[in-house]
Amino acid sequence: MTIQKVMVIGAGQMGSGIAQVCAQAGFDVKLNDIKQEFFERGLGVMTKNLSRDVEKGRKTEEEKQAILGRITMSLDLRDAADVDIVIEAAVENMEIKQSIFKQLDAIAPKHAILATNTSSLPITEIAAVTERPEQVIGMHFMNPVPVMKLVEIIRGLATADEVYQKVEEMTRKLDKTPVEVNDFPGFVSNRILLPMINEAIYALYEGVASKEAIDDVMKMGMNHPMGPLTLADFIGLDTCLSIMEILHEGLGDSKYRPCPLLRKYVAAGWLGKKSGRGFYIYE
Ligand code: CAA
Repeated sequence: MTIQKVMVIGAGQMGSGIAQVCAQAGFDVKLNDIKQEFFERGLGVMTKNLSRDVEKGRKTEEEKQAILGRITMSLDLRDAADVDIVIEAAVENMEIKQSIFKQLDAIAPKHAILATNTSSLPITEIAAVTERPEQVIGMHFMNPVPVMKLVEIIRGLATADEVYQKVEEMTRKLDKTPVEVNDFPGFVSNRILLPMINEAIYALYEGVASKEAIDDVMKMGMNHPMGPLTLADFIGLDTCLSIMEILHEGLGDSKYRPCPLLRKYVAAGWLGKKSGRGFYIYE
């Protein structure tokens, strides 16, 4: 089986980025969401990214049009009936993901791989609702998808070796670097990144330093491209909280306790860049 037809579920920040890199690599992409306006918003982001590439001389206008031409809108999961792989990037909610995977299992061809871009939910638990757990796998892209090189590839308990190989091969075609990881809470990326961000929030909460000072120390002292509080705003504070809760619950260690200040910000609706306010204010 050669992967050519791809369905991406969810046209948000991650889904539209995944659809863009798939189309850039020559795959035919159906970008699925529940409303046309969500698809159009995602298409707008992709068009803006590609126009920037044209302005910078990295792509021609023809290449941009060809890439966009490979992306079609889907508002119905039944469109998965002829795809080779589905990459799900819907909301981080186990019930919703399990419901999507159950439906996909009934619709997608027998050979199709069902991948999820979950940042921390267990792959094995998602796979368990399907009749093809050996064809379910995690493909965790990093934000912003068009820029970041890594794809963490997570094997569920039942994931078959040949499925892993296919996904690794596809990842290289996307011009990304695959890294193999097993199915534990937070995988590797968020097991390490989120406790660091949570600790930065504790440092702010306990008055160790101002938010700017905390970010400056990590940016200039550790050469991080963004300080941890800026990065938390960029990821979304609700997402940060949900990942910390998964680590706390899944690993059962108090060192993963979400900082009360993080909880407070999320309760206030201060979700970071996307809501206009998090640790910083965005115009
Ligand atoms: N989409 C597409 N391209 C983008 C982009 C976006 N959202 N944001 C930035 N870029 C591009 C810019 O267009 C620019 O490209 P060119 O100038 O070559 O055209 C390039 O990236 C650099 O951008 P900037 O000059 O504006 O700013 P920068 O040098 O600070 O880079 C950044 C921006 C790449 C986002 C950088 O700050 C960075 O690497 N930040 C950390 C990102 C990170 O840690 N991501 C992981 C988040 S965790 C995650 O994703 C996992 C999870 O499950 C939570």
